Amino acid sequence: MNPNTPVRLAVFASGEGSNLRNIYQRIHDGELKNVELALVVSNNSRSGALEVARAADIPSRHLSTRTHVDLAKAMLDVLAEFRVNLIVLAGYMKLLPNEVVEAYAGRILNIHPALLPEFGGAEMYGLRVHEAVLAAHRKVSGATVHLVTSNFDEGPIVMQQTCEVRDDDTAQSLQDRVQKVEYDLYPKAIAKVAVNMIERGSGTTTL
Ligand code: GAR
Repeated sequence: MNPNTPVRLAVFASGEGSNLRNIYQRIHDGELKNVELALVVSNNSRSGALEVARAADIPSRHLSTRTHVDLAKAMLDVLAEFRVNLIVLAGYMKLLPNEVVEAYAGRILNIHPALLPEFGGAEMYGLRVHEAVLAAHRKVSGATVHLVTSNFDEGPIVMQQTCEVRDDDTAQSLQDRVQKVEYDLYPKAIAKVAVNMIERGSGTTTL
């Protein structure tokens, strides 16, 4: 990659899109440098993430197994069309097709609202994660950014950030605290990977 060219991000999201909004805002405010938001992809046509994209004038696509017979090809085509260098999963609740994971190996990030390798896996999303942390009587939780492999919530950890678990926490209050951690952590992790990609002058990252 050219050192003067920003890394082009595609954010994949299924739900509210608050991490997308935060990433967009950090780029807009000049706090998250060396990257630009090239594309938003959602499997959910009613997602808040697509609304965020429309409001911010970011190109977006609704891609799902319902709308596309060959989802992998549709994803790879649109990623090529928008010259995406780095895929950022932000509350994307589906496994990416293997072809996409292979084509973007080392260039796909995910954020998970707990300290992996604990409290991850296919069933671990939303309030369930925080209920599990509380049930395990953990005193510390947080968020994890990791590289994506073909299994849920696996792959090398890029960065983690912790927060306390309070005695009077509910799953909701813990989720609110962890979300604040995510808004701080994800831009930092994206910046770290982007700089690494630019310095290596390649389309891959090493940690
Ligand atoms: C985030 O908390 C993210 O960590 C979680 O989904 C939420 C999406 O929120 N992801 C997972 O649980 C993945 N296993 P958002 O749509 O408001 O950004």
